[in-house]
Amino acid sequence: MRHKGGVKLALNLVMYLLFLLLMGKHLISATFHEWFGVGLFVCFILHNNLNYKWYKSLFKGKYTVLRSVQMAINILLILAVLGCFVSSLMISGVVFSRIRLPNIELGREFHMLCTAWGFVLMSVHLGLHIRIPKTVKTLRIILSAIALAIAIYGIFVFAERRLWEELFLLAEYKWFDYDKTVLLYLLETFSVSMSLATLTLIIKRIGLNMKKPNELISLFLVCMMISLGVGCSGQSDTKTPGNNSEMNPSISGESKVLIAYFSWSGNTNQLAEMVQVHSGGELFRIVPETPYAEDFDGCATRAQNELNDGTRPPLSSHIEEEVMAEYDVILLGFPIWWYDLPMPVWTFLEEYDFSGKTIIPFFTHNGSSNGAGSLSSIEDLCFNSIVKTDNALSIQGIDVGNAEEQVKEWISELGL
Ligand SMILES: Cc1cc2nc3c(=O)[nH]c(=O)nc-3n(C[C@H](O)[C@H](O)[C@H](O)COP(=O)(O)O)c2cc1C
Repeated sequence: MRHKGGVKLALNLVMYLLFLLLMGKHLISATFHEWFGVGLFVCFILHNNLNYKWYKSLFKGKYTVLRSVQMAINILLILAVLGCFVSSLMISGVVFSRIRLPNIELGREFHMLCTAWGFVLMSVHLGLHIRIPKTVKTLRIILSAIALAIAIYGIFVFAERRLWEELFLLAEYKWFDYDKTVLLYLLETFSVSMSLATLTLIIKRIGLNMKKPNELISLFLVCMMISLGVGCSGQSDTKTPGNNSEMNPSISGESKVLIAYFSWSGNTNQLAEMVQVHSGGELFRIVPETPYAEDFDGCATRAQNELNDGTRPPLSSHIEEEVMAEYDVILLGFPIWWYDLPMPVWTFLEEYDFSGKTIIPFFTHNGSSNGAGSLSSIEDLCFNSIVKTDNALSIQGIDVGNAEEQVKEWISELGL
C-alpha cells in the first residue's frame, strides 16, 4: 500500500515536471518536445490506472459542493489532456508525422488552447488535492511564506506572459520569451502554477469554512469577477509577438546570428522557431504596425495593392542600430506573397544597414518553390551584402511540421 503511494507520488512529480517543460516549447528541440509529450500522455494513462477507484466511485455517495467541483475539474482536465494529444496528432512533425491528421492551422490553435487550459486545470487539481505536511509550527510558517512569495511572483509572470490570451484564443501565437534561461523559464512557469494552486487552496479552505451554499456561490462569483478583471485589463493593449515595444528587448546581438522573419498564417513562424533551435541565433519577428486581415481575401488584396504600389508598411518593432551592427549573419524568413517578398520584409530590409553582412533566406510557399521573384528582390535591396540565394531553404507551407531534419541539415551545411 505504502509502495503504491510512493509510485503515485513519483509519477505525479514526473508528470508535473514534464508539463512545466512542455510549456516552454522553445527551450527544447521539437523532437524532445514531442517525445516528452508522449511521455506525459503515457504517465497520464498510468495515473488514471492507479486512481481507478475514482472512476468506480463516480456514481456512489453524496455529491457535496467540493466533490462536485473536484469532479468537474478532473473531467475538464481529462478533456484538456486528450485535446493536447489529438491536436499534437494534427501538428506533429516527428513522432506522428506519418500518420498526421489534416489541418495544421486548426491543430496549432487547438493545441495552444488545450495546453493552456491543461496547465491551469492541472494547477487547480494540484491545489484541490495538495496536503500541507504536519510539521513543526515555525517550519510550517516559513514554508507557507515561501510558497506565498512564489505564488505572488507567479501572478506577475501570468500577467507578463498574458496567459489569458492563450486561454481565450485572443492571440494567434503563443508568446515565447527567448530572453530567459531554461532554469528561469521553468521556475517562472512553476510560480504561475503555484499561484493557481494556492488560490485554489485558499478558496477551498474558505469554502469549507462556509456553511451555507449561497455563501459559496458568492465566493465563486467574486473569484470569477477577479479573473475576468485580470483578463479584461490585459485586453486593452493586445500584444502580438514582436510588437510589444518599440525596441525589441529580447534582441541582444550576442549570438552573431539574427533570425528575422515575417509570417502571416504561422508556417514561417514555425520554421523560424526550428531554425532558432538548430542555429542558436536570436529570433526577431517582423510585425507590421497594422496587422493584415485574418481572412485570406482581405490579406491577399492588401498584399497585392502594397506590392503594386511599392508601399512600405511601417513596422511596430525595431532593433537598435548598435545591436544590429553586432550580427554577422541574417537568416531571413518569409512566406512567398504574390511571387515576391511580403512588403513588411521590404520595409525591414530598407530600415537597417546590412552592408558586409551575410543574408541567407529561408521561405515557405505554396508552389513557388524556387522563391519566384523574392530572392532577386533581396539581392536588389541588399546590394552591399552577401546574399546567399543558392543556399536558400525552401519549404512548402504544408510540410513545415516535417521539416525539422531538413532544417538541421541546412544549418549544419551553412556551418554557422
Ligand atoms: C497574400 C498571399 C499571397 C501568396 N502568394 C503566393 C505565391 O505567389 N506563391 C506561393 O507559392 N505561395 C503563395 N502564398 C502562400 C504562402 O506563401 C504559403 O502559404 C506560406 O507558407 C504562408 O506562410 P505563413 O504561414 O508564414 O504566412 C501566398 C499567401 C498569401 C497569404
